[in-house]
Amino acid sequence: MKKAIIVGATSGIGRELAKLYANSGWLVGATGRRQDLLYSLQLEYPNNIITECFDVTSSTSISHIKLLIEKLNGLDLLIYNSGYGDVSEVLDIKLDRTTVDTNVNGFIEIVNFTFNYFHHQGYGQLATTSSLASIRGNSYAPAYSASKAFQSIYLEGLHMRSKKLEAEIYITDIQPGHVDTNMSKGNARFWVSPPEKAAKQIYQAIDKRKWRVYITQRWWLVAQALKWMPDFIYHRLG
Ligand SMILES: NC(=O)c1ccc[n+]([C@@H]2O[C@H](COP(=O)([O-])OP(=O)(O)OC[C@H]3O[C@@H](n4cnc5c(N)ncnc54)[C@H](OP(=O)(O)O)[C@@H]3O)[C@@H](O)[C@H]2O)c1
Repeated sequence: MKKAIIVGATSGIGRELAKLYANSGWLVGATGRRQDLLYSLQLEYPNNIITECFDVTSSTSISHIKLLIEKLNGLDLLIYNSGYGDVSEVLDIKLDRTTVDTNVNGFIEIVNFTFNYFHHQGYGQLATTSSLASIRGNSYAPAYSASKAFQSIYLEGLHMRSKKLEAEIYITDIQPGHVDTNMSKGNARFWVSPPEKAAKQIYQAIDKRKWRVYITQRWWLVAQALKWMPDFIYHRLG
């Protein structure tokens, strides 16, 4: 039985991923802060889901990950999916701090630990739900886009590192566009995907060991437009 940890599996994309891996016969370690939602997930999949309740911004996050690996009796895949971000008209320091604590500091603790764990073990897969927002700055959520850029750039470094080490460690940088969850906000949304569809495409990309994937796939077009758009045009978009 293959073993996966999904960090941030209480709602949205992460919860759908946990169900998909459990339905595919994996043993899943699901995490998040909302104990009631973890409990309901475990009740639904008593033989395939084990839970661990913790905050990724706490200093004890790695102890929880270690405990979960023990409970699972090994680890083949870890998906860092926990994320925070919100839009704000004012530049709110509290919002920015929470964003960086969750998407940068919490991320680096767990992803750094897991890469080294897999290196020691000799194999493993590591994926993170970054965002298309990682590609350019964003005036409404500058900390969010910057934090997602940090994730994607860090993962690219780990991808190159595993190649250099000739290690059997596969990295996947997941960049969703709009997915219909609590986090997705704004009136100008388009190509909004249900979380079930997003999770299915993420599952397939990880299975194929893709290094980077846009969710849903047609967001590749937007990613290319964002990458190549000259500053003088992009900066007028708001
Ligand atoms: N929805 C979109 O359109 C979209 C687009 C691009 C990227 N993404 C990314 O996709 C990921 C999943 O988001 P979602 O859209 O599925 O939204 P969501 O339903 O709000 O899920 C967010 C998940 O992150 C967990 N989380 C947040 N802060 C945490 C903390 N301090 N400690 C532990 N877990 C924490 C939440 O669990 P608890 O609250 O229970 O702790 C929850 O499971 C995020 O990284 C987000 O940035 C989403």
